[in-house]
Amino acid sequence: MKDNIFTNMDRGKSVFKDKSPLSHKFLPEQLPHRDEQITKIAKYWIDALDNVTPSDVTIYGKTGTGKTAAAKFAQKQLIEAAQDNKIFINVEYIRCTDYTTEYQVLAQLCQRLGRDVPYRGWTKGEIINTFREVLNQEIDGKKLILIIILDEIDILLEKDGDGLLYTLTRTENVSVLSISNYLDFKKFIKPRVMSSLRDKEIVFPPYRADQLADILNERSEMSFNENVLNEDVIPLCSAMAAKEEGDARYALDLLSTAGDIADENDSSEILGDYVIAAKNRIEHNKVTDIINTLPTQQQRVLESVLILTQNKEEISSGKLYETYKEVSKGDSVTYRRIFDFINELEMLGIISTNTVSRGRGKGRTNIIKLQCEEDLVDKTLNSL
Ligand SMILES: Nc1ncnc2c1ncn2[C@@H]1O[C@H](COP(=O)(O)OP(=O)(O)O)[C@@H](O)[C@H]1O
Ligand SMILES: [Mg+2]
Repeated sequence: MKDNIFTNMDRGKSVFKDKSPLSHKFLPEQLPHRDEQITKIAKYWIDALDNVTPSDVTIYGKTGTGKTAAAKFAQKQLIEAAQDNKIFINVEYIRCTDYTTEYQVLAQLCQRLGRDVPYRGWTKGEIINTFREVLNQEIDGKKLILIIILDEIDILLEKDGDGLLYTLTRTENVSVLSISNYLDFKKFIKPRVMSSLRDKEIVFPPYRADQLADILNERSEMSFNENVLNEDVIPLCSAMAAKEEGDARYALDLLSTAGDIADENDSSEILGDYVIAAKNRIEHNKVTDIINTLPTQQQRVLESVLILTQNKEEISSGKLYETYKEVSKGDSVTYRRIFDFINELEMLGIISTNTVSRGRGKGRTNIIKLQCEEDLVDKTLNSL
């Protein structure tokens, strides 16, 4: 019999011994520099061990500040403690990008609590009643305490309104931990819900460079073979990610991509230069992904920004609209709609706007600038 094709295949040398600790899915055992925040969550949740429903809690912080990781860490710890204390507690994690409406979240929770419900077709009232019925069951004379982690809650609030929070805050033995990337997500919550939310807030600040370095050091020991990291690499990744709003996910991406680049170059060492190359690659992929998924009219607005940038012109909204009309050849949206597009492109980090005063009596104008490489935008738009 021939030898197995896989065992004989040359897997090549790699700087990695195990890539998974650098992936987004990995949940570390320790979360350095997040003791304070995790302790705060635990101080609210500890009530559950005395069979009291904990207060609702809200976590805020920018992307990559460890919100999801901290919530899941606290979840694991509480479930462990509850088992030791023989208390009937459930902590369910729901990512609101996966379940985007009140109905979907409640149906999912019913399923997880062992009640089979249809994923569509029932009325909202039916699903709410069933959810409450499940929660009303007693085991050994005690009701379940259900803590629900609603991650990325802004997505659900924007899409479906605050009905879910209204329902959950009015269900006796339920406590909600909401996680939001934006401080202003409460603008989606009406007073009737706010008044019963009475939530406690925990802020996750951006990581500093030295804190990011600690996080990267721990992960790199798990991921890389010995002596493959040049001494510049972690300080560089940390400094670059600290500049990008203290984002640990970005720091990990830089490190892992730098490792990929070392492998591609058959290098047994990860060099500082590879971190710079990693930054460009990540930036490049982000920009092309965004441009590729923009709606057509928005791509035309961006194309107009590009044309004016290439002509070295100062871009006011008026001038942008003129160019846009030429680009879209009759199939254009209104001048007012253009402002929405400009805002969205700015939020995506593709362009920036800056209001300048034209001097006395001449009013103010919005000046638009491209925020990513001209050539990259050009190439991406032309390959659509
Ligand atoms: N204090 C920390 N220690 C170790 N890893 C961390 C820490 N904070 C964040 N991370 C890691 O950084 C990445 C982003 O964290 P995450 O919790 O997803 O951020 P957020 O939810 O705030 O966007 C994850 O891979 C996570 O494991
Ligand atoms: Mg998160």
